[in-house]
Amino acid sequence: MAKLVVRGGNPLRGDVAVSGSKNSALGILAAAAMADGESVLDNVPSHTDVFTMCRILRELGARVYIDDDHRFHIDGSGLSKTKPSYDLVRKMRASFYVAGVLLARLGEAEVPLPGGCAIGSRPVDYHIKGFEQLGAEVAIEYGYMKARSNRLQGAKIYVNRASVGTTVNLILAATLSKGVTILENAAKEPEIVDLSIFLNAMGANIRGAGTEVIKIQGVERLHPIEYGIIADRIECATFMIAVGASRGEATLHNVVPEHLRTPIAKLTEAGLHIEEGDTEILVRAHKKPRAVDVETAVYPGFPTDVQQPFVALMSVAEGTSIVRETVFSDRFRYVDELRRMGADIKVEQDSAIIRGVETLTGAPVEVPDLRAGAALVVAALAADGETEVHNSEILERGYERLGDKLAALGADVVLEETVTGREMRVEEFRRSVEVEST
Ligand code: EPZ
Repeated sequence: MAKLVVRGGNPLRGDVAVSGSKNSALGILAAAAMADGESVLDNVPSHTDVFTMCRILRELGARVYIDDDHRFHIDGSGLSKTKPSYDLVRKMRASFYVAGVLLARLGEAEVPLPGGCAIGSRPVDYHIKGFEQLGAEVAIEYGYMKARSNRLQGAKIYVNRASVGTTVNLILAATLSKGVTILENAAKEPEIVDLSIFLNAMGANIRGAGTEVIKIQGVERLHPIEYGIIADRIECATFMIAVGASRGEATLHNVVPEHLRTPIAKLTEAGLHIEEGDTEILVRAHKKPRAVDVETAVYPGFPTDVQQPFVALMSVAEGTSIVRETVFSDRFRYVDELRRMGADIKVEQDSAIIRGVETLTGAPVEVPDLRAGAALVVAALAADGETEVHNSEILERGYERLGDKLAALGADVVLEETVTGREMRVEEFRRSVEVEST
């Protein structure tokens, strides 16, 4: 168990480098295992979710290791097993991406169905329906999806709710199928574009990523490449909000401002001064933020993964704001923890009504899920006194060295845990590779 102890009140100042995108890396790591030969990935963040994906790929027969320059090497030539272990898959929903990979490469997949999630019901019925439309025979038995097909056939598929995961899984499956697949109402997130650029560089034939209609002409095989993952727009937005809540001034580096149009517009509306460069964003916030209403939506709308940190900012804003969550059914559970810090928030159906308070006060709080954890850290930075953020290891699922980065910006943050961070995880992963390869 880890605990982040934050003493609030220090304005964040200085420069911080944003890491590679978790949600892009997860899809691209899985896709890399579809090529015969070793791909090399750069800018892969050291999140626990990334290591879970690496372990699953290795369990299925792929070779995965990290070199001294922290580049990830993935070789799918040895991919041979079709059933990843429940123990690994249950740790992370994106593990279900291996279903598309295995069906495409081996014609068979037996993957545990993802379980419950803290942010609401998250079935994979759209993924399964899509596999069936590509011609796979699918059965749900004993908690597993069992799917098989001699060779997937291209089809026209409507992606419900522009689901990100469904779009990723169907792109993976359709890339090595026979014929043409058309995905309509496809997700348009930058992570989908990054995945498609990566696959096309490996020899795939994907057109239209980033639009609602993606056309995939199936190919026989893929070859390995070297590739760099895009910046994490959610981490970037989280830091912008943290600077705003602490009334600081900082520059975020290695970012793609284009991917943050809506968060930038909403934060500007809240009174933050934001200047964009090619790959950096300056945020200045010397005044109390203004209350702003927000509604989450699929890209390019306001990201649901930024909803929680944004609510934390609004809890110290001038005035009352309404934040509506339209993507997930139950993504306000963390509000009780913010109330413990003195926030004045009422949740009614899919909306939170936030009456800004003068100050929050530090308190012991618990992290229920990744982005809720980010909200608690943002609140702690703005609060008077000390906040103990318990279960902070959950933050490491999607924020690389958050404590170190905040401390480098002048925050009074201490991580209480025996050993943690990138060093420990890389070491642990390397050791497991050595064990495996001897
Ligand atoms: C991806 O989740 C992200 N995860 C999530 O980020 C993000 O919140 C979400 O997209 C929305 O942007 C990764 O990229 C690994 P969806 P995903 O399929 O793919 C429903 C984070 O914190 N649905 O777009 O699971 C679903 O329940 C995480 O980094 C079905 O009903 O999201 C949800 O209400 C959290 N059946 C909606 O659609 C399905 O088969 C959108 O989900 C699939 C989805």
